[in-house]
Amino acid sequence: MSVQQHDIDPAFSAFVTERLGAIEARLLAAAEADTDFVTAAASHIIRAGGKRFRPLLVVLASQLLPGADPDRIDRAAIVVELTHVASLYHDDVMDEAEVRRAGPSANARWDNTVAILVGDFLFSRASSTVATLGTEYVTLQAETFARLVQGQIAETRGPLPGTDRLAHYLSVLADKTGSLIAASARFGGMVCGAEPAVLDALARYGEEIGLVFQLSDDILDIVSDSSGKRPGTDLREGVWTLPTLLVAASTDPADARLRELVSRPLTEEAEVHEALTLLRAHPLLRAAREEVARRAEVARSHLTPLPAGPARDALSALCDQVVSRSF
Ligand code: IPE
Ligand code: IPE
Ligand code: MG
Ligand code: MG
Repeated sequence: MSVQQHDIDPAFSAFVTERLGAIEARLLAAAEADTDFVTAAASHIIRAGGKRFRPLLVVLASQLLPGADPDRIDRAAIVVELTHVASLYHDDVMDEAEVRRAGPSANARWDNTVAILVGDFLFSRASSTVATLGTEYVTLQAETFARLVQGQIAETRGPLPGTDRLAHYLSVLADKTGSLIAASARFGGMVCGAEPAVLDALARYGEEIGLVFQLSDDILDIVSDSSGKRPGTDLREGVWTLPTLLVAASTDPADARLRELVSRPLTEEAEVHEALTLLRAHPLLRAAREEVARRAEVARSHLTPLPAGPARDALSALCDQVVSRSF
């Protein structure tokens, strides 16, 4: 993702672009291993691209105050992207996903064992880098990864009988996605020496925009044929998302067939196609999008305590970009 604003300060924009270029090169360098095979497998998903949303957040938040060291910004940014990419290797094994970033996933290209171990390798690279930033960074990254993993486990186990499915879903989103995006924003603030109140505001903003980001992503799993991933993955895996939870709660007799389809993992492609067609045309999809837009405004409201300037404006513009992705 990039900074998209009309009246953006050219020096600010040039600095962000320069940082993202440097971060790209350092990500590839971090994937270099002792053998060509491991280097190829570890750089596979990095080379495939991606939005680099988390590094962008680090860079933008690092510009809230003057004086951040560019080298430390880049290191903090590669820590969060390497952690993210490592989690994607593992997520694609869990989700049996064959496509990632518009190409074959590592588990499809090689196998599950390679994908799991290469994810571990990239996580170890993130650890080496975060150690160069200081103990506070190591602690935050460790706590964040613990939350992310527990979110993934909670999603796989599903809501326990008798518990609220929507509350479970939202807590999974906060943990698996919100945690790392919150840490990205906080890292940026830490690099520029922001005071604790600003760091907390950044984390609250990151947590909320992370939730919006995943809600949008879950809508894209239904509506998009061009996300670089295979639509309907959540339906195949039987993972509840906001649109399917809303359908499950509907009492309209016309929704009976769709309610039945979303109530179980779909193994037949014809059923996936049928569920996607029904969901795409369903009015509840609009309700899900409205919730995305509402929460993006909550994310924006957390920016109020931050110092005004191009960095805060760019963080605010991201709230619109995350919403427009799934609209
Ligand atoms: C994918 O993350 C997993 C989610 C948390 C939704 P991104 O949507 O940031 O994926 P890339 O990095 O752009 O591929
Ligand atoms: C991925 O969630 C979240 C993490 C990798 C932690 P999803 O399974 O919904 O993401 P995609 O759709 O595969 O990118
Ligand atoms: Mg997945
Ligand atoms: Mg998943």
